[in-house]
Amino acid sequence: MSESKVWNDVDDYFTAQLAPDDEGLTAALRASEEAGLPQIAISGTQGKLLQLLAQIQGARNILEIGTLGGYSTIWLARALPADGRLVSLEYSARHAEVATGNITRAGLDKIVEIRVGPALDSLSRLAEESGENAAPFDLVFIDADKANNPHYLEWALKLTRAGSLIIVDNVVREGRVADAGSTTPDVIGTRAAIELIGSHPRLSGTAIQTVGGKGYDGFALARVLS
Ligand SMILES: C[S@@+](CC[C@H](N)C(=O)[O-])C[C@H]1O[C@@H](n2cnc3c(N)ncnc32)[C@H](O)[C@@H]1O
Repeated sequence: MSESKVWNDVDDYFTAQLAPDDEGLTAALRASEEAGLPQIAISGTQGKLLQLLAQIQGARNILEIGTLGGYSTIWLARALPADGRLVSLEYSARHAEVATGNITRAGLDKIVEIRVGPALDSLSRLAEESGENAAPFDLVFIDADKANNPHYLEWALKLTRAGSLIIVDNVVREGRVADAGSTTPDVIGTRAAIELIGSHPRLSGTAIQTVGGKGYDGFALARVLS
């Protein structure tokens, strides 16, 4: 049996037992595929991990960078209380439109707000706002263009509080993150983010390698210290 077949089989088993898709999630994946969105959403078990982390965190206010069709958004938003808020940033108007349909169908449109445009612009605007959707966020999930990961991390630091949790997805890239000589913007951005987490006095973090239905990748977790 090939390595990736074993990873898939184990992921399928874990997903069925621990993180089964329900109608809201299945419909979101189906609608995203039918709309031709890239199939790069997190897996079910990863979604359940995000949801558990948000619940452990007692999150009331979540920021997501990179919405796609809203699959991870649904997992995260379901961790929130009825008066909680999730702001999700998405570059593509088409992705945001599909995500809006998926989030509404999942009954989360009162909790979730999608903002369309380059995330760096939206982040700068968010930092100037006050009110119910404003910072500080209890949890930030970074899952957009990887080249900007260090910038997203810097913004996340500005938009969080002591005790907030920052999660950065796809930090392994099939092992390419270990290549110090890489000229790929995604790898350069991811390495810069990892090094920032390691060196920043306000952050304590780690990174974990994962295998599964989405291949060989991983995520970084960082707690904001002050
Ligand atoms: C990996 S997908 C997000 C997947 C989603 N978090 C999930 O798991 O369901 C990355 C998304 O980030 C968006 N994106 C890429 N560059 C961006 C940017 N500069 N600002 C905001 N969104 C961006 C892409 O259009 C894409 O929808």
